[in-house]
Amino acid sequence: MSEPLLVDVAGPVATVRLNRPDIHNAFDDDLVARLADAAITLGALDDVRLVVLRGEGKSFSAGADLNWMKRMVEYGKDENRVDSERMAKMFEAWFRLPQPVVGRIQGAALGGGTGLVSVCDIAVSAADTVFGFTEVRLGILPAVISPFVLSRIGTGHARHLFLTGERFDAARAREIGLVDLVVPADELDDAVDRVVRDLLSGGPRAQRRIKRLLEEVHHLTPEKARHHTTQAIAEARVSEEGQEGMRAFFDRRRASWRGDT
Ligand code: COA
Repeated sequence: MSEPLLVDVAGPVATVRLNRPDIHNAFDDDLVARLADAAITLGALDDVRLVVLRGEGKSFSAGADLNWMKRMVEYGKDENRVDSERMAKMFEAWFRLPQPVVGRIQGAALGGGTGLVSVCDIAVSAADTVFGFTEVRLGILPAVISPFVLSRIGTGHARHLFLTGERFDAARAREIGLVDLVVPADELDDAVDRVVRDLLSGGPRAQRRIKRLLEEVHHLTPEKARHHTTQAIAEARVSEEGQEGMRAFFDRRRASWRGDT
């Protein structure tokens, strides 16, 4: 049997592929555990600058594997809670990955699949992708994914889309902020490559700091945010990377972290 998750590291770029194409990369407990492990392992690798998250075959991900969901009916509420907790920790590990995450989205991104879209820092979608928070149509809720989805689309859109479970297209996903770029399907790989190149031209330490900062300032009052953000920029300016970036600008050369990108 082929591996349900493929992880490949090529220089500074790691690619993580959901690999259950026969069922549109729906995920069960095993795939959830593998996704969590991949995030923890890659997050600890200093040389990995960014991660591309994608699905093999026709779709990005059709969300939770409904056969797994069916199995869980036989378990009690406590076991279901433990199971959901594992899934929540997986989403959290991806959301908090220190490196930027680029999502390559095609086919269908439904239910938990939209949760995986939401934990990407930059989601690039094919124009013909179908999205939907379809849980309500099954009598369940987009509960575990909601914090990550809300940070992208806000409560207004979530109320409408969570409550109806309607399917929507990539243009709408772009409009509400669920994805960042929409391109024709045959240009998807080129678009992802462009984002990867853009990311590789930024300072790696700065990018990691930006990710943490966005999370931190979110929870602060304006006064506390002032203290925190001025501290962060002061540290970045005097850091080795900040100094190198500014020197490179004035020397009209590429910063050292860019290699030949
Ligand atoms: N869990 C388990 N199996 C799934 C699945 C899921 N979430 N989504 C699709 N599959 C399976 C189908 O049951 C089918 O299996 P089969 O070949 O044994 O019959 C196979 O994947 C192909 O799906 P099919 O519906 O024939 O393909 P399609 O191209 O017409 O449609 C989808 C693809 C993803 C749009 C459609 O399958 C779908 O809407 N799936 C439900 C997704 C969902 O509601 N997810 C939320 C879960 S909370």
